[in-house]
Amino acid sequence: MVDTVLVVGGAGYIGSHTTLALREAGVRVVVYDDLSAGHREAVLGAPLVEADVHDVDTLRRTLREHEVGAVLHFAGRLSVPESLTDPAGYYRHNVVGTLSLLEAMVAESVDALVFSSTAAVYGEPDASPILEEHPTRPVNTYGETKLAVERALPHFERAHGLRSVCLRYFNASGADPAGRLGEAHDPETHLIPRALIAASGGPALEIFGNDYATPDGSCLRDFVHVTDLANAHVLACEYLRQGGRSDLFNVGTGTPSSVRDVVDAVGRVTGREVLVRASPRRAGDPAVLVAGSTKVQRALRWRPKHSTLTDIVETAWRWHQTGWSRDERRDKC
Ligand code: UFG
Repeated sequence: MVDTVLVVGGAGYIGSHTTLALREAGVRVVVYDDLSAGHREAVLGAPLVEADVHDVDTLRRTLREHEVGAVLHFAGRLSVPESLTDPAGYYRHNVVGTLSLLEAMVAESVDALVFSSTAAVYGEPDASPILEEHPTRPVNTYGETKLAVERALPHFERAHGLRSVCLRYFNASGADPAGRLGEAHDPETHLIPRALIAASGGPALEIFGNDYATPDGSCLRDFVHVTDLANAHVLACEYLRQGGRSDLFNVGTGTPSSVRDVVDAVGRVTGREVLVRASPRRAGDPAVLVAGSTKVQRALRWRPKHSTLTDIVETAWRWHQTGWSRDERRDKC
């Protein structure tokens, strides 16, 4: 690899872990982030351009000045419940923001993009595990905005030769095993950090729905460690830079864990009681989301190495106790 990779949204949760993985693989990176949701501390000394994804001029100048050869795009909003109450914000950030980035890439002749997509594009699946050819019928606005971008990308390839890999993440979770990075959303809506907050004496964890058609009545998810996800991006980037054709891949482990399994794992790892409270189903939640991941394993030679539930919860717990915004996180819930 000779030129630089631009990581848009590289100060966020998955973006920062990916930036670190790229640097550890010897790749030159520049992070582009407006720090509205990301954290300056998460960049770990990588070059940072602090600017908005809608700012096409700054994007163009960054691509040009840093001789960028490929872009990884993480910037966007990511909460399913929030997306249902703020569709304009989700379309603006996730769709319009991406169009600004694509416009800048086309203008500067940068022709390789790895795009953060999501299992939410599938909606309520007909079968489990879900394969990539499964119909896409999002049941929440978040998934709909990610699908809109997936659908736009082939048009940019036809018109401008811009190749892309879309990675459809299942449930990103865990923290850097060396403790340098972790998850710090505001507000925190995700299951594992909220369960850790409950284990640390915070409010009881609400379990959203106990009457799903699953073995214990709670939703089933496929938790994939953020470091494994980061490595999938490094491989996808390498694939594109070696001339690979546009494609899309699920990134998950194929192992279902229920919400209650997560609560048990958090209790076991922390040695503390996790107070829970039964709550109604949360709008926009499919009952079961489990990845069929043979395609990414075959095409990119990706293998999950940190994604057992125990590894995920252990690394998340370590981060929860030591991370740079621990006090903020506790106050936010
Ligand atoms: N949950 C609770 N209590 C909480 C938080 C979550 O019971 O306090 C449950 C949710 O209802 C869901 C599961 O835990 O069943 C996981 O919820 P998260 O909010 O942690 O994650 P999501 O499953 O909503 O999000 C994931 C991915 C998205 C994807 C979405 C599809 O992060 O990229 O699934 O709906 F879009």
